[in-house]
Amino acid sequence: MIEGIARLASEAADRISGSASLDDLRHVEGEQLGKRSPLSEYKKLLAGLEPEQRKAVGLALNEVRASLELLVVTRRDELESAELVERFGSERLDLTEVESQGRRGHLHLVTQTHDRLEDVFVGMGFTVAEGPEAETDWYNFEALNFPAGHPARTMYDTLYLNVGEPEGTVLRTHTSPVQIHVMQEQEPPIYSIMPGRVYRRDTADASHMPVFHQIEGLVIDKGITFGDLAGTLEAFTTAYFGGSIHSRLRPSYFPFTEPSAEYDINCIFCEGSGCRTCAQTGWLELGGCGMVHPNVFRAVGYDPEQWSGFAFGFGTDRLSLMRYGIDDIRDMFTNDVRFLEQF
Ligand code: PHE
Repeated sequence: MIEGIARLASEAADRISGSASLDDLRHVEGEQLGKRSPLSEYKKLLAGLEPEQRKAVGLALNEVRASLELLVVTRRDELESAELVERFGSERLDLTEVESQGRRGHLHLVTQTHDRLEDVFVGMGFTVAEGPEAETDWYNFEALNFPAGHPARTMYDTLYLNVGEPEGTVLRTHTSPVQIHVMQEQEPPIYSIMPGRVYRRDTADASHMPVFHQIEGLVIDKGITFGDLAGTLEAFTTAYFGGSIHSRLRPSYFPFTEPSAEYDINCIFCEGSGCRTCAQTGWLELGGCGMVHPNVFRAVGYDPEQWSGFAFGFGTDRLSLMRYGIDDIRDMFTNDVRFLEQF
């Protein structure tokens, strides 16, 4: 009987090792180890044996079963990795073919503009930081000194996300919440710019998109003044637009800066003499700026007696539009390669 079991075991082992696919192996496993397998039949015979013999045969059957089960596992691993290798081989893309058709991509206009802006600011000693696009109400408003119900919240047509507490999570309406993240994550002095995508509930038209781009600037140090703000923006303006373009600041209001200002530059088309683009004013509005409000310092645990600083933020898509004389902002985002290829 033991001999029969040994013969059976070696046959079963051959069948398992010889299985050609995972399906085949599943079939062989049922046949050799399942309820109606010869091994199970032998087990039924145990009841009719003498105690001595029953012990020996039972032991042999258990050993054979254990070693065959191990063999199945090993074979399954082998077959699985072979099938994976084969699948990777058949799913492989021939990228050289794409290139030989002569259609290579390049950076989008938005990215090119941000790269250029970053180069200028990095040259002035700034670092680049990023923050999340989905923000809690606290980061987008509260910490920036817009308490709940503050009238300035209506300056932003906010898109709310339907997660958790109603109106608790927003798509950031400006890059200013990244100021808060940067201040929480590092100690002053801070000289950082924060480019990114922002969202407002706007209908798309030639000059508006519900998704657009801004760049934020934040400087925090000891003894920073409004003069430093004006000087930094002027230095940036001439470095980015050329020496004949200058900046000016006009009084304005933002809850998170005090005093606040609007940042304008000479019209880059007429250089100040007046044309259609600047509505004959000679100036183009770029964005907002001001001295960081003490309440913003308090929100992040900075001592407003010890630190002072300024912030600025402006839209960057208009820079791309102006630079290339594009008259519809929607063209930048419909992703028609015939349009994008030009830049
Ligand atoms: N976050 C403001 C906006 O989007 C701009 C701004 C940034 C103003 C920093 C002051 C300081 O309108």
